[in-house]
Amino acid sequence: MTDSMMEGGAAGSAAAAQTVTPAQFRSLMSTFPSGVAIVTTSDLDGQPRGMTCSSVCSVAVDPPTLLMCLRTGSPTLTAMLRRSTLAVNLLHARGRAAADLFASGTPHRFDMVRWSADPEAAGPHLIDDAHAIADCRITGTMSASDHTVVFGEVFRVQHPAAVDQSPLLYGLRQYSSWSVA
Ligand SMILES: Cc1cc2nc3c(=O)[nH]c(=O)nc-3n(C[C@H](O)[C@H](O)[C@H](O)COP(=O)(O)O)c2cc1C
Repeated sequence: MTDSMMEGGAAGSAAAAQTVTPAQFRSLMSTFPSGVAIVTTSDLDGQPRGMTCSSVCSVAVDPPTLLMCLRTGSPTLTAMLRRSTLAVNLLHARGRAAADLFASGTPHRFDMVRWSADPEAAGPHLIDDAHAIADCRITGTMSASDHTVVFGEVFRVQHPAAVDQSPLLYGLRQYSSWSVA
């Protein structure tokens, strides 16, 4: 946001008088489809952690940087901030069950998927469910309401031999997939 975007004035006052409910906001954002990722890391004792995340966004190319917005109370977020690394597993269309699993809150989510723990990696790699994986080191965070924005610098990209390369999408409150014609 630039300084000029933050100036008040008549337009600013009018905007402040409007109220948008959480339901209206959710409805708005449901019309903005995105890809689906599972972001992973591990506790300091080596326990894997991960959650489904659609708020991944590109920030800059040099150095390659992305961001994601995670619920501040999330145990996955706590673990990744302690370790300062995370892996972004970009899901393909057949990774939908994993997306549901890693959004479910179950503590046993890593028992139900195949994953690898390469010591060079920033977090567990979901080798059956991801078409691409970005290993990142955390370079910064920012508090935003009840979420934390996490900035990650990508230091390695891998492409597992996925059977399905079509990216999984989430929008209009349902999953879909990008059909590569
Ligand atoms: C498609 C989809 C996208 C999601 N994206 C996010 C997200 O960007 N940030 C977030 O905090 N939660 C997101 N969630 C919800 C979390 O995956 C869910 O709260 C999960 O249980 C968090 O795990 P944890 O509490 O173990 O960290 C998403 C869920 C779904 C189904």
